[in-house]
Amino acid sequence: MSRKNFFSVLNQEINRIDKAKTSKRFEKIITGFTNERSPKAIIGKKKFQVFNSNDYLGLRHHPALKKAEHQATEIFGAGPGAVRFISGSLKVHRDLEKALAKFHKKNDAMIFSSSFAANLAVLFCLIAGQNKDSLVDSDVIVISDALNHRSIIDGIRVANLPKEQRTIFRHMDPTHLEEVLENNKKIYKRALVVTDGVFSMLGEYQKLREIRTIIDKYDKEYVNGVLLVVDDAHGVGIAGKTGRGIEEIEGVKADVLIGTFGKAFGADGGYVVGSQTIIDYLRESAATYIYSNSIPPGTAAAALKSIEILDKPLGKKLLENSKENVAYFKKQMKKVGYFFAVDSSHPIQPVLIGDPFKTSVLVGKLFKKNIIVTNISFPVVPKGRDEIRVQISAVHTKKDIDQLVKAFKQEK
Ligand SMILES: Cc1ncc(COP(=O)(O)O)c(C=O)c1O
Repeated sequence: MSRKNFFSVLNQEINRIDKAKTSKRFEKIITGFTNERSPKAIIGKKKFQVFNSNDYLGLRHHPALKKAEHQATEIFGAGPGAVRFISGSLKVHRDLEKALAKFHKKNDAMIFSSSFAANLAVLFCLIAGQNKDSLVDSDVIVISDALNHRSIIDGIRVANLPKEQRTIFRHMDPTHLEEVLENNKKIYKRALVVTDGVFSMLGEYQKLREIRTIIDKYDKEYVNGVLLVVDDAHGVGIAGKTGRGIEEIEGVKADVLIGTFGKAFGADGGYVVGSQTIIDYLRESAATYIYSNSIPPGTAAAALKSIEILDKPLGKKLLENSKENVAYFKKQMKKVGYFFAVDSSHPIQPVLIGDPFKTSVLVGKLFKKNIIVTNISFPVVPKGRDEIRVQISAVHTKKDIDQLVKAFKQEK
């Protein structure tokens, strides 16, 4: 008997994953970027046009963000030095929280090291009490969209509710959500509905207006009401006319909104915005906030700069460019005979291929033409709906998009 046996189990598991062709560890290492409007990634000796980044506005290479990052690092140091409640609460963190609250028109905000960490804490704290002394009970039914992000699934998992209190509503099906709320109204004291704002595999916008109406209807049917929690990681900064995300697209508000700086905002880290009560409670109870460092001051300053930029002429121009580029890409692809898995105006554009083998071969062929895109197959999407996920940036030029479409056309 020895731990060697356990390592052997781990090796068998790695082999199983490799055989299933779902391994993720053979990552392409980017050694640098070219210095142009839409920077190309350098991999080995070649330069690649990146069509699979979440940097939807091209802000991560923007000189203003880099400058803000350097300046904050000079003042505050490279890291936060401690968790927030010890000595890691720096002015730049608080400035960023205030800017976020204003940006989303909420009372307050709090920053996490990532939006994954934010989801884990928010869901845990809103589902369960922290310890035996907590006044927050778990007399709750949690209702989650079937295609929610892994961080939401894990957030619900860590709350460790009995199985019957964790339910799923069919993907983007508000009628099913209503059924679940109706069926549970006499059973639990409260309900918590959680969903992605924008679904990252297909760029779909959740039907938040319908969901909000249903939730408001059922709020009085539960003693402690119904709460709407939305993770809008792919929406904030990019979706909607002014980049306010799914709330702007659908014209309604979430009760608790989670976002990330790691996508459209071009920096890194996660955040939550909501009412003062929600944020004060989370600051007292969120383990990934209390016991884990916040983002480095330089990153916070870069995120703050990008929030400022978004409401300035540059931000407005980038948002317009993004919409124009997405529309142009769709039009050109349709001209050369491709279809999309859904019709969305989001920079995530799922090019429907319909076969896992063809999809991965096509991604390989595009790579040989110095273009990086991502293939998505079952079980992430249903069988026969295999797609190439293209992500269009506001700083891609028409020429970049023409080259991509040409490459797709040549391989048709
Ligand atoms: C919907 C959603 N939530 C959360 C995350 C995690 O973001 P972060 O990198 O900030 O942890 C992602 C990232 O892919 C996402 O798509």
